Amino acid sequence: MKIFVCVFMIFLSLKAEDFITKMEYAKMLYSNPRGIGCIACHGARGEGSVIAKYKHKGKQLELVAPAINELSKDRFFKALKGTDSVMPKYFLTNNEIEALYFYVTSEVNR
Ligand code: HEC
Repeated sequence: MKIFVCVFMIFLSLKAEDFITKMEYAKMLYSNPRGIGCIACHGARGEGSVIAKYKHKGKQLELVAPAINELSKDRFFKALKGTDSVMPKYFLTNNEIEALYFYVTSEVNR
């Protein structure tokens, strides 16, 4: 009986996943991946933002998170697989990167 209930619960949870759309999943991942949300630096829709303004040797400088909503998929993957200087290193699966790419480049998102 216990096993039956267990299998039934798994079945239910698999079904429940259908209720969140690909877009909802992608949006969730973008604002809350494992680590600091992309949204914090790249803006709500991947349009990019100024993270900080600072002075260096009397010059006013800006630290910018670039726009990521019009990149090729190749470049997007490379940035998330590699180690960039400022951006935190994420350990995302290809499916997760795919979902993030889908989110920031989607037309609905503009
Ligand atoms: C702490 C701020 C910060 C966070 C959080 C962050 N990024 Fe970045 N990202 C940057 C900066 C700054 C750059 C520019 C390269 C560098 O200096 O690291 C960058 C570069 C990139 C690039 C390459 C852009 C190009 O022109 O090639 C992509 C793609 C990208 N980020 C996607 C993401 C995604 C997706 C997430 C969430 C999983 C994320 N970033 C989280 C700051 C951030």
